[in-house]
Amino acid sequence: MLPNLAADQLRVGQLMASLLAKLPITDLRLHQAMQYSLLLGGKRLRPFLVYSVGRMLGATVTDLDGPAAAIECLHTYSLIHDDLPAMDDDDLRRGQPTCHKAFDEATAILAGDALQTLAFEILTQHPYTAVPTDRQLTLVRELARHSGYQGMCGGQAIDLAHTNKTMSLAGLEQMHQLKTGALICCAIQFGWLCSPDENPAHLKALLQYAQAIGLAFQVQDDILDIESDTATLGKPQGSDLQANKVTYPALLGLAAAKQKAADLIDEARQALQTLPYDTTELAELASYVIARKF
Ligand code: IPE
Ligand code: IPE
Ligand code: MG
Ligand code: MG
Ligand code: MG
Repeated sequence: MLPNLAADQLRVGQLMASLLAKLPITDLRLHQAMQYSLLLGGKRLRPFLVYSVGRMLGATVTDLDGPAAAIECLHTYSLIHDDLPAMDDDDLRRGQPTCHKAFDEATAILAGDALQTLAFEILTQHPYTAVPTDRQLTLVRELARHSGYQGMCGGQAIDLAHTNKTMSLAGLEQMHQLKTGALICCAIQFGWLCSPDENPAHLKALLQYAQAIGLAFQVQDDILDIESDTATLGKPQGSDLQANKVTYPALLGLAAAKQKAADLIDEARQALQTLPYDTTELAELASYVIARKF
């Protein structure tokens, strides 16, 4: 269904492994914790988005490597911190004990911090061949913006503030857009920024697609928390219910949540129709977002 997915997963995995291997061992335990969380598992969806959009728009593949690895480091940091006792307090991630369980809380906090800053190091040190310097700077700004206060961290704060409470549907949508949608939008923007395309209308359509699949991705994550099982998910099924999180299924019921996810995927596919490129892979990817079982 997505013939390039496995190769892209392997490519970014090998790149991240070699980047980690090149780091001096300032602290072995911290290095091991970073390696553990980054390299053992994960769907690598965000790197795949970078590669897929970039390929479609004619980017040089080696230019996409840096942004792809950077966004996965950033995402992995967000997962390590999301699992901490002060946040979702989960014990399993990517089929393994969470970082703070395999190591300890302080090491997990530091591993997250170090992966976050490594993301920016990778982004700025990458040997780009066809990405102009102003666009290289934009890559850095967009990663900072989408992962921080105006993006992932902001969404995580809203999530924590509403645990054991309720919220409006609009509030829930905003929370999802920030905590999950923002990094997905960033990945898609990375693909565009590395490519020769300079048409703002094309970026606009891509971001419409990104917003729709980003929201759908979290709706599906919430659905899987109810419908899947721990072994398939690689993280504890029922975690949201146990923590009394506000989710689409909790607010709308399971059937309406599934309908919402399906509507979003239609929206995403429609946004692609205005693009003068072969959008087959992105259209398939949209379907994968809600068909996935983990
Ligand atoms: C999990 O993300 C956290 C959310 C933003 C929903 P993924 O489902 O992409 O997790 P990995 O990277 O495959 O482990
Ligand atoms: C998204 O929310 C987490 C991040 C932004 C890191 P969840 O808390 O639902 O993610 P999972 O279900 O633990 O992967
Ligand atoms: Mg969470
Ligand atoms: Mg969580
Ligand atoms: Mg979840």
